Order: sequence, then C-alpha cells, then structure tokens
Amino acid sequence: MSSLLITGASQLLTLRGRVPRRGKFLSDIGIIRDGALLIRDGVIAAVGTRLEIESLPESRLAEKLDVGGRVVLPGFVDSHTHLIHAASRTEEYELKIAGASYEEIARKGGGILNSVKKLRAATAENLKKRAHSALREFAEHGTTTLEAKSGYGLNVASELKILRLHKELSVEQPLEIVSTFLGAHVVPAEFRSKPDGSAQYIALLTNKLIPEVAAKELAEFCDVFCDRGAFSRTEANEILRAARKKGLFLRVHAEQLTRTGAAQLGVKLGAASCDHLEQVNRADIQALARSKTVAALLPGCDFHLGLRKYAPARELIEAGAIVVLATDYNPGTSPTVSMPMILSLACTQLRMSPGEAIAAGTINAAYSLLRDHKIGSVEAGKQADLAIFDVDDYREIPYYFGVNKCWMTLKKGQPVFQKAHT
Ligand code: NIG
Ligand code: FE
Repeated sequence: MSSLLITGASQLLTLRGRVPRRGKFLSDIGIIRDGALLIRDGVIAAVGTRLEIESLPESRLAEKLDVGGRVVLPGFVDSHTHLIHAASRTEEYELKIAGASYEEIARKGGGILNSVKKLRAATAENLKKRAHSALREFAEHGTTTLEAKSGYGLNVASELKILRLHKELSVEQPLEIVSTFLGAHVVPAEFRSKPDGSAQYIALLTNKLIPEVAAKELAEFCDVFCDRGAFSRTEANEILRAARKKGLFLRVHAEQLTRTGAAQLGVKLGAASCDHLEQVNRADIQALARSKTVAALLPGCDFHLGLRKYAPARELIEAGAIVVLATDYNPGTSPTVSMPMILSLACTQLRMSPGEAIAAGTINAAYSLLRDHKIGSVEAGKQADLAIFDVDDYREIPYYFGVNKCWMTLKKGQPVFQKAHT
C-alpha cells in the first residue's frame, strides 16, 4: 500500500456535489481553503482541511507533498480532441488570416481532406511520435483524461490505424484516452468523384467500419460531423443509428458553421454530447436544456478561425443545459492542447465565470465521457487525477491568458508533469 498526503492548497477545488451541473449549480466548485487530501494506491481516500486530514492515523505514515499555497483542482477532462493527425496546417493559416473562409479552403481540397492526405502518407510510428509529444503537452497543461477521435483516415485501413493507436497510446503513457470513431468526418476524395459517392461511403461506414470498430472494441463513441460540406442531418441520422445499434455511444459535431438541426437530432438519439453549437436557435437550446445530452462548447475554434460568433453559453447555462468546455485540439480549427487557454476564452468570449468554466472542463466533461463515477472531482473513492496551479486564487487560471501556470499534474496519484524550476 502506498499513501500520499497532499497539504498546503490555498484553495482545493473539490467539484463535489451534484452531477451533472446545470444552471446556477455550474459555478458550484466546492472550495476548501487550506485544503488537503490523502491518496491511497492512486485513489482519493480522504479530502478536507489540512487539520482534518493531517489528524488521520494513515497521514502520519504517508509520503508528503506540500504544494506551498498553490491551487489544487481535478485534472482537466478534455472531451473533444482530434489527437491523431500527421501535421499542422499552417499553409492554410495565412489564407484564413487573409480572408479565406474555412469552407472556401475546404472546397479547394484543403481543410480536412488536406489532413487526410497527410495522415494516409504517414507511418503509424510517426503518428504515434507526434501524439506522444502532444500528450506530454496535455499533461503539462493539467489535462489527465482526453477523448480522441479518428477522422483523418477515412478509409478502412487508415481509420483502423488511428483507432489502434488510441489503444496503444493508452498503455504506453499515463493519460487516459477515450476513443471515438469519426469515420463520418467528411466524404473522402475518392468517393466524391463518383455519382452516388456519399451514399457509397455511408454504406462503407454503416456496413463495414462501424460493425468492425464495435466488434473489436476500438471505440466507445461514434461521432458525425453534421454540417454543410460534411454530412446532412438525414445522413447523420442513418450513421448514428447504425452506431447505436452496435452499442456505440454517440457524439455529434453540431451547428458549427451552419444550422442543420444536428443538435436536436443528437438529443433525440440520446447522444452523450453535441459539440460546437455556435449556430443554435432557441428551440435547440430548449431541447438541449431538457435533455441529458451535453452542450460542449469549443471556443478555441472561433478564436483560431477569427470568427466573431461564439456559442451562446449564457443562454445555454440559464436554460439549464449541461455545458462542457473542450479544446477540440485539431490542425484545422483549434491547434491547442491548453484547457487553461480555453477557460480564458470561455470567460472573456462566452461570459462564463471562472468557476463555471472549471466545472465545465472537469466534472461535466467527465459526465459527457460517462466517467463521472471515477473522475472529474476530488472526492473519496475517485481516481487521484489532479492539476496543481501556481496561483493563489483559482480565478487566476483563466486570468493569466496564454500563460501556462500549471505546476504539477498527477494521474492516479503519480506525477505526470512537474514544472522544472519553482
Ligand atoms: O471540430 N468540424 C469538424 N472537425 C474539426 C475540424 C477538423 C479540421 O478542420 O481538420 C472541428 O472543428
Ligand atoms: Fe472537432
């Protein structure tokens, strides 16, 4: 048995309490001042004030970590990433800055298809190397669990290659990876040239890839990018139903660039999460609010694409939707691994309070990945997944935008990142 006693948290954000967090409860982050916790074999054994926890008999024998007045919170749960990709798309960055839209670039063969070309040409070894270095950076920014989508392969061999990499990476490094199949990202180029190419590609997804992914347990979730230039609502419905039938849980890229009705489709199908939501209308907000489907907001995309229209976070929160924040780490719309930066954007652009943003990036995100029973809060019985920030007050985490104040990250009680010199 190994025990670790952590003391000296000026603020310990426990995020204990009701799950998921809706409405006014979203800002409820359960702060303990002068907080401490006892970890036993990677699991949280006790949480309280320093006096309470230090007086436990087990604490005397435990290894000790005094965090020196810093802020301790649950490790971030990043519920939307496109972890595996071959390269950046900096060549498109300047085009975007000069005024080309995301859709214009995609129509000219750029965008997702550009990343597909690069991924198909890459070796599994190189993809893995790139992912490993991204995963180290996620850990450096306080993330302890992340969802990862396929979707830059778009044929049987390459999609399966990505999903297998999710599995391999899960055992080769400490962060937990939750695998999502996104074969329905866009219709690949070789099918676009055929008269009924979309239908043929959807048949490949529903008859071959989804059954194989489910049978080999290569993913827990299936996602569809439902938008103009990707899949229609009708097509998304067909793909998601096929996935659900095979036992996969659902996520949807919904209402990002245009409103397609994907959010209400997601709600109707009982999706775990509808993501993006910049273009939602009042009825969509109401539907999300009345459901258990999470509204995952990805402000990094709007920031990177230079778009002014962010998702209506305040309306979603006030209506009672389960709001989540994620990076959407990907080479086309949001090349960041930084949850702290996403929190900064959530505060200034989505008008979320720092407390709301933290709950959206921890406990609600864990709920969206069906893991709130073991991660997302600092409570006895949960995994000791922690982020420790070199600040006196949790509000400074988003306040110091673009600066990584993460001081230490622990996964199951083990340090997976520690800042070099402080
Ligand atoms: O979440 N919207 C679709 N998928 C990604 C972008 C993918 C890309 O441009 O490579 C997103 O924004
Ligand atoms: Fe995405």
